[in-house]
Amino acid sequence: MYKKLFIPGPTHVRDKILQAQAAPMIGHRSKEYADLQAEVTPKLQQLLYTQQRVYLYASSSTGVMEGSVRQASTKRILNTVCGAFSKRWHQITAANGVPCDKVEVPMGQAITLELVDEALSKGDYDAITIVMNETSTGLMNPVEDIAALVRDKYPDVLILVDAVSCMAGAKIEFDAWGLDVCLAGVQKCFALPAGLTVCAVSDRARERAQHVTNPGYYFSYAQMDKKYEKHQTPATPAISLIQALNVQMDDILDEGLDNRWRRHEEMATCVQDWARRYFALYSDERYLSNTVTNIENTRGISVAGLNEELGKRGAMISNGYGDLKEKCFRIAHMGDLTLDDIEWLLGQIEDILELRDS
Ligand SMILES: Cc1ncc(COP(=O)(O)O)c(C=O)c1O
Repeated sequence: MYKKLFIPGPTHVRDKILQAQAAPMIGHRSKEYADLQAEVTPKLQQLLYTQQRVYLYASSSTGVMEGSVRQASTKRILNTVCGAFSKRWHQITAANGVPCDKVEVPMGQAITLELVDEALSKGDYDAITIVMNETSTGLMNPVEDIAALVRDKYPDVLILVDAVSCMAGAKIEFDAWGLDVCLAGVQKCFALPAGLTVCAVSDRARERAQHVTNPGYYFSYAQMDKKYEKHQTPATPAISLIQALNVQMDDILDEGLDNRWRRHEEMATCVQDWARRYFALYSDERYLSNTVTNIENTRGISVAGLNEELGKRGAMISNGYGDLKEKCFRIAHMGDLTLDDIEWLLGQIEDILELRDS
């Protein structure tokens, strides 16, 4: 039986989108392909409220995280860490030999303006990484406010944002916020199969990349730019996924961006209220995510057992991430899921666990 995915990626993909991938294959140097990329790119720019470049990489997000830190700095990068994925970005930066430091808060807490200000004031940094939606803890960092601080006080610092689990599920105003890189794989809030990453890059970041000694090749903005105006990519793109993305972007824009953000907020509020009623929320209440909720297992249930039962009823949620396994469980409310889906899922969990309001 198909299990509807309430995990924080890959998320449920509608049949229409699965079928859009089955369109006949086209050559990536053909006019048909260039027309496709020329059509989908402005839709992505609209989604991200940007006039600047949006690249499509045949890669999962991790690859683009790597490419972004390789091209961001001629000095030192500050990695902000608040959970598993922000930690990974620090590991990626270090593994690529890019000078970097991390500033870390405990899991479940947000990166604050004070923390960023203090750290940037102490070192010779020219880029900062921030995970907007920390999928491991269900927490959304105040990226707009952090970016405003950085733009104001540290104008040479590029702002790199991992929006992997919230792009297309939460509003990100790339130009107005003054971001430099913002990336996300499409298997989360875009609700597509995995294998393609969308990445907005500012003109400033493209300029910086030209002065970096080892920018790499596959993810290089300079390489991408050689083909950008022809609406192509230097290496073979994920054509079927881009065909599906083009269809999905029409549906996203038809839904209306404000409606899409609101739907995600409504689903999040529903899960958060439910979690407060029967369990507890893991992360700082002031920064709860709109796309995934991390619920503390205060009842000591078997999360694996719950998921097994849910599987028999056609659904799947996520265990806690890493050390939080069985201590927490996560319900994703992203992509094309609806409030009805969420209410159905919560009803199933109540039934399986025989939860009653106290
Ligand atoms: C916030 C965040 N960043 C990065 C990644 C890595 O994405 P991928 O495994 O698709 O490369 C994930 C995956 O879940 C994520 O949630």
